[in-house]
Amino acid sequence: MTHPRIAFIGAGNMALSLIGGLIAQGVPGERIRASDPGAEQRAKASALGAQAVEDNAAALADADVVVLAVKPQVIKGVCQTLKASLKPGQLVISIAAGISCASLENWLGEIALVRCMPNTPALLRQGVSGLYANARVSAEQRQQAEQLLSAVGLALWLDEESLIDAVTAVSGSGPAYFFLLIEAMIAAGEQLGLPRETATRLTEQTALGAARMAIESDVDAAELRRRVTSPAGTTEAAIKTFQAGGFEALVAKALEAAARRSAELAEQLGR
Ligand SMILES: NC(=O)c1ccc[n+]([C@@H]2O[C@H](COP(=O)([O-])OP(=O)(O)OC[C@H]3O[C@@H](n4cnc5c(N)ncnc54)[C@H](OP(=O)(O)O)[C@@H]3O)[C@@H](O)[C@H]2O)c1
Repeated sequence: MTHPRIAFIGAGNMALSLIGGLIAQGVPGERIRASDPGAEQRAKASALGAQAVEDNAAALADADVVVLAVKPQVIKGVCQTLKASLKPGQLVISIAAGISCASLENWLGEIALVRCMPNTPALLRQGVSGLYANARVSAEQRQQAEQLLSAVGLALWLDEESLIDAVTAVSGSGPAYFFLLIEAMIAAGEQLGLPRETATRLTEQTALGAARMAIESDVDAAELRRRVTSPAGTTEAAIKTFQAGGFEALVAKALEAAARRSAELAEQLGR
């Protein structure tokens, strides 16, 4: 199998995770190039087996796939300098949060473009990404994009770009919601008399176990919850308290706020 040549523009946290994942999947290091102004970041990319360069244009010279992995705040300038070096047939994949396809096409011209929203567990190859392809992306390029994001977790296609705001609200910001619940459960466990270390380990392992059950079981989360909630039991006492406090409505309101903010940021960053 011939692997596409991949050029990463920016060799920060996310690019290095993707490079590590691709190498682990068996993509040869000579097919991966990474450019970054920082010598330390280039050394990290080299240590993973990729070819590290300082010049962005040199990175994408003969690439099949160009991954824009710089911060949203600098992406406009990076695109403006890359535009002259891009060749027809190259696929551009942007992982920059809040940068729309319209903005990228405005800065780069008529390109085959995949916009995606990964999340931080990608650093442990346990991420999930929402992907949107513009109309110029071929079936082969879709496969290339999916294979690339699959190197750090699950990759799910979206039919409409506007759904990226919902993905941001659910999985992009999602790890922080679980961290908040973990924090609150540890504090509550301590109030009930557990040593902090014990409350922490009980909570973290419970989160991992529940997530694995939800993923691996053939029934949905609601059914799993019903199965561990006996009438008049301890779990029911807690769940009733959550629901009396408006838990589901609060979660819906929080995710709506995140999606709204994602759309607002895209509007500001795209100017
Ligand atoms: N981390 C996440 O969990 C996550 C989740 C979803 C989306 N994303 C998106 O992924 C992108 C990268 O995030 P990150 O966390 O990996 O950021 P990061 O660690 O800051 O990586 C960006 C890298 O790009 C380098 N850079 C800056 N200007 C450049 C230029 N002109 N040409 C080439 N490289 C340049 C930076 O160098 P300097 O530090 O020297 O400026 C840095 O090493 C962002 O757009 C972010 O929105 C990240």
